[in-house]
Amino acid sequence: MEPFRFHVFACDQQKPEGVPGCAARGSAATIDALRRELATRGLVNEVQLTTCGSLGLCERGPNMIVYPEGIWYSGVKPEDVPEIVSSHFQNGRPVARLVNTDAAALEGEIRSNRDKYLAGVRARDAAGVMPDDLSQNIRGYQESRTVLTAIELDVFTAVGEKAAAAEVAETIHADARATELLLNALTAIGLLMKTGQTFSVTPVSRRFLAAGGQNDSRAAMMHNVGLWRSWSGLTDAVRSGSGAKGDRDAEWTRWFIAAMHRNASERARAVVDAVGTAGVSRMLDVGGGSGAYSIAFAKASDSLRAEVLDLESVLPMTRGYIAEAGVESRVSTRPGDLRRDALGSGYDLVLVSAVCHMLSSGENADLMKRCFAALGSGGRLVVQDFILNPAKTAPRAGALFSLNMLVGSQNGASYSEDEYLAWMAAAGFVDVTRVRLAGPTNLMVGTRR
Ligand SMILES: C[S@@+](CC[C@H](N)C(=O)[O-])C[C@H]1O[C@@H](n2cnc3c(N)ncnc32)[C@H](O)[C@@H]1O
Ligand code: FES
Repeated sequence: MEPFRFHVFACDQQKPEGVPGCAARGSAATIDALRRELATRGLVNEVQLTTCGSLGLCERGPNMIVYPEGIWYSGVKPEDVPEIVSSHFQNGRPVARLVNTDAAALEGEIRSNRDKYLAGVRARDAAGVMPDDLSQNIRGYQESRTVLTAIELDVFTAVGEKAAAAEVAETIHADARATELLLNALTAIGLLMKTGQTFSVTPVSRRFLAAGGQNDSRAAMMHNVGLWRSWSGLTDAVRSGSGAKGDRDAEWTRWFIAAMHRNASERARAVVDAVGTAGVSRMLDVGGGSGAYSIAFAKASDSLRAEVLDLESVLPMTRGYIAEAGVESRVSTRPGDLRRDALGSGYDLVLVSAVCHMLSSGENADLMKRCFAALGSGGRLVVQDFILNPAKTAPRAGALFSLNMLVGSQNGASYSEDEYLAWMAAAGFVDVTRVRLAGPTNLMVGTRR
């Protein structure tokens, strides 16, 4: 069976630094060029591209195999791609200069590489070398801290299209030698490029981390700079049972809400699609933050009005986001305390997104009861959060987020599906179901009959 005219398996294998392999030899650029060329020539439905692990010709990558013929290409550079696509995929003539034609030699090379690889694995094991992923677990902070410092100093804006380290140091008011070390490390990570002594931003850092970028996320990412400080107290928090809550000034709140807005804007479409707007004319967004979900619901239905309940100090920012989206006439704000206030009545939909993880189990049980009281008959409660497995060990992001709440809140944590079911059932909700969305968070939906 051949569902496609051609099926390309392109090796994208990462290997430890210094070990030859396709990723180190530039497979990402080749694969990207292939994707673009296939799209440009309208061949994406005829030529299926699948990235894969090592094909055994690691010293001669980037490598790829094309089926149904079983053509093995080696050393494919981005500039070779247009020729492969036109000659091979459009005219049926493989590009001879890049093809391995000696099957016996190919087999010998693959076997020899496999033997070398297995010998290397045995030697590492005998020498007690730490597994790479364990090493990465332990040293992961280095890359994170490097990028956070760059964001904090607004390095990507300072580098822009082209700058020497000394110029960047002057712009960010920092030491010239230290700035150069930082720029070199950012280049190693792949967020800057260096030609001679000149640095420039990559497409990704220009888009997300520099002023004027298409998806400038600097304010949202500054929230991580704040989180770094609370996570530094994790050891003490585990000993004592709670984190040292640092000062949360207006700037901290601005970063926090910017970060919430970024996450929520990314997920809002999926949530609106999953929940739907049929029968929803009044919605309450409890702890609604930037109002991103209310904005998305209002945009999805002209007859829907939403109210964002949040802290007095946050609502001016919320109103800014609502005005920016042009939905002020149908999305309003209400100051309130979601931990104790009555939430109103007669709503068709109550949304509680990324709130339950801030609260203790008892507070969540109480919040569900007040949400129930706020709904009219047939109204629905939608909770969005990390929802853990019964052992509370997965998903990984949710289990780690529990620690984020340990260092950053009084009694917060991620909770399991069973806990949500119990709180919602006790509050009176029926037909409680979990709705799985792509990404780390899910929904729990219940109805008031
Ligand atoms: C993690 S954010 C989630 C924001 C939004 N629901 C979302 O999903 O993007 C939690 C929100 O709860 C608000 N909040 C925290 N404590 C609150 C309280 N006691 N009363 C009302 N809102 C509160 C915060 O200001 C923040 O906007
Ligand atoms: S790493 Fe690509 S063939 Fe081995």
